[in-house]
Order: sequence, then structure tokens, then C-alpha cells
Amino acid sequence: MRKRLIGIFTFIVILTGIVILLPKGTRAEAAVKISAKVLHMAKGQTYKLKLTNAKSTKKVTWSSSDSSVASVKKGRVTANKEGMAVITAKYGKKVYECSVSVSGGTEDSLIIYFSATGTTGDAAAKIQEAVGADIVRLVPKTDYSSADLKYTDNSCRANKEQAENTMPAISTVIRNLDQYSTIYIGYPIWHGKEPGVIRTFLSKYSMEGKTVLPFCTSGSSGISGSMQHIRDMAEGADVKNGKDLTHSSVKDIEEWIKGNEISVKSDDGGYMEENMKMKIGNKEVDVIWEDNESVKALRELVGSGTVSINMSMYGGFEQVGEIGTSLPRNDTQTTTLCGDIVLYSGDKLVVFYGSNSWSYTRLGKITGLDRAQLTELLSEGNVTITIW
Ligand SMILES: Cc1cc2nc3c(=O)[nH]c(=O)nc-3n(C[C@H](O)[C@H](O)[C@H](O)COP(=O)(O)O)c2cc1C
Repeated sequence: MRKRLIGIFTFIVILTGIVILLPKGTRAEAAVKISAKVLHMAKGQTYKLKLTNAKSTKKVTWSSSDSSVASVKKGRVTANKEGMAVITAKYGKKVYECSVSVSGGTEDSLIIYFSATGTTGDAAAKIQEAVGADIVRLVPKTDYSSADLKYTDNSCRANKEQAENTMPAISTVIRNLDQYSTIYIGYPIWHGKEPGVIRTFLSKYSMEGKTVLPFCTSGSSGISGSMQHIRDMAEGADVKNGKDLTHSSVKDIEEWIKGNEISVKSDDGGYMEENMKMKIGNKEVDVIWEDNESVKALRELVGSGTVSINMSMYGGFEQVGEIGTSLPRNDTQTTTLCGDIVLYSGDKLVVFYGSNSWSYTRLGKITGLDRAQLTELLSEGNVTITIW
């Protein structure tokens, strides 16, 4: 027995020695990730971005493409004015990006949502199109990995949280909730009810005196299983009929909101701007468009039709194509990043899968695709870009 114990002990010592002596590169290291790739914020709010799995001893350099819109200090992003900015974290030779869209903070409606895989985020964006509210994403302190969301595995984090009614910590801070009288609260349905992030939010922020419209996305369950919980947690609020928006258009959403006696943008006789859509080849991509004169003119050019632009590969980092007309420009020296869409010399559209420094006018940013996916789309031959 003693011999066996000595044997096991020696084996462990040797194994530990091997691991310590292994060259750094051969040790398994968890991939470094940015805690959010897209942030919707309202003016005045702050949010702490993190590089998960980054070594605390290695420097991260944070910067913003437009500090007047969103500034960043040690990862803490502050929304300063309406617009779009890209926050960049430089870590060693790698660059991680987060697109931030800032709404004016002047509205009296606020959309607050949690989305683990993006579907509820898309629904939230449609509500914003319908009502013009400010929008804030609830981000958990520890993001959900795909293993955390694997609901076929009883012991995955999301399943455990739902079974135990856990309230996971959130890093989003909303400072100016008082200014809003109507709150839209959105979430994916997890095991028939609202996820823990929503429980955390409602336990921290009072909804008293406010009108609350819950919305969700789901595989098929719908919102009913979460409604009573929301009513109980949003004490003192007028909680309206919630809706599952998984397959809803902006028009459907308008009907739901009006059905709850709340007005929508098109009630003002205002022209409701549908968000411009874009395809690279046959692939539709999500774009956050800038709010500037150039994008306004592009929107007018597209009208109710389609604009096709024949693009050509250039420089190993971009594709460029003639729009066929000149748009208003406000060029500034810009260092572009992967996914940026810019106007070059007033009449050319450029889409980047790499980086370049030149004088451009920003038009927008492709979201939801990483560098490898954009490189695959844009570096393997000339493409046609369609905007409608
Ligand atoms: C842990 C977990 C549990 C889920 N439970 C349900 C459920 O009970 N009923 C349902 O219809 N969909 C369920 N879904 C599917 C999500 O509600 C649906 O995919 C949702 O649109 C995801 O939204 P998101 O992309 O904003 O995270 C579940 C998903 C996960 C990850």
C-alpha cells in the first residue's frame, strides 16, 4: 500500500513538473473575448467592458473611434451624445471591438433587454423603430457561454439558474431611470419564464408608477409563463399585456403597442423610416447605420427600391465600389476596422475586413460577424453589395 502511495505521489510530482516546464504556447489557454460586441446605450449611461481571460499582467489599451459619442477609460464606456462609435481594446497584437450606438436620452420611453444570442436584441431594435425610445442592453457580469446555454444538459448554468430562481449579477448601470415613464422589458424565455438577469434587474430597480410592457422571444412557449412573475416583481407599475415578438414585424409591434393605448412614431403623421438592409453577395448582414447627412442621402437614394454596387477587392483589407452618384460628405482622417462601412471621395462605398487610415465619412458598421467571417465574405473575389 505504501509503495502504491509513493508511486501515485511521484506520478503527480512528475506531471506537475511537465506542465510547469511546458513552453507557454503549448499550454491550453482560454480564448480572450470582449464582454460585449454591440452595446445600445442612452446618453449619460456608463458600461464596463472587459476582456475576459486576459492576463491581468498584460496591458489593455482602450480607445474610441469617436469620444464625443462614447468615451472609454480602462474599459468603462460613457455614452456622451447620440451617434455611433466603435470601442477598441488592443491586447498584445490583437484588437477587440465593440460597436456602441447611443440614443439621445431625451425620450420618455426606455427599452431594457437581455439577450443571450441576439434574437431579443433584434426585437428590441424593432420596438425602437416603432416608438423611438432609448434602449439599454442588460449585460450579465459573467457572460453566458454556449455551454452555459445548453439546455439539454440539466447541469448547465442557465438550467440551474432557472431551477433555483437565481439572480445573477449584472454589470449594466442605469442612472436616469426616473426620466422614463414607459419601460419595455425584453428577454428570451428560459424554461417557460423570464431569465435570472431580469429577476436581478427588477429586484434592483423600482418600476413604481411606470407603465411596463414586457416582450420576449422564444422557441414556441410564448410570454404567458413569465407575466405573473413580472407583475409581482414590478410592484406598483401598470404592467400591460406582454407579447412574444419572435416573428413580429415593426407593423405587428406597432399594433401591440397601440393596443396598449400607447402612441407610436407613425401616429404623429411622421414618416416611419424602415431600417436600411444590406446584403454582401447573397448574405444579409446586420448594420448599425450612422445618423448623418450621408446616410440620410443614401436612404433617399434607396427609397423604396434597391441599390446594387459592384465592388472590387483592394489592398487586402477592403472592397470598394462606385455608388453611381455623389453623397454629401464630411471626411475626417479615420482608422477603419473590420466591418466598417465608409464613404470614400463622396461617391464610393468601402467595406472593410481589415484596417486602413484615410480621410473618409463613416456610414455604418456591420455587426454580428467576426473578423474571420467578414474576411471569408470579402476576401475571396469581387462581390455585389445590395442595399434596400
Ligand atoms: C436555457 C434555455 C432555455 C430555453 N427554454 C425555452 C422554453 O422553455 N421555451 C421556448 O419556447 N424556448 C426556450 N428557449 C429558446 C429561447 O427562448 C429562444 O431561442 C430565444 O429567442 C433566444 O433569445 P436570445 O437570442 O435573445 O437569447 C430556451 C433557450 C435557452 C438557452
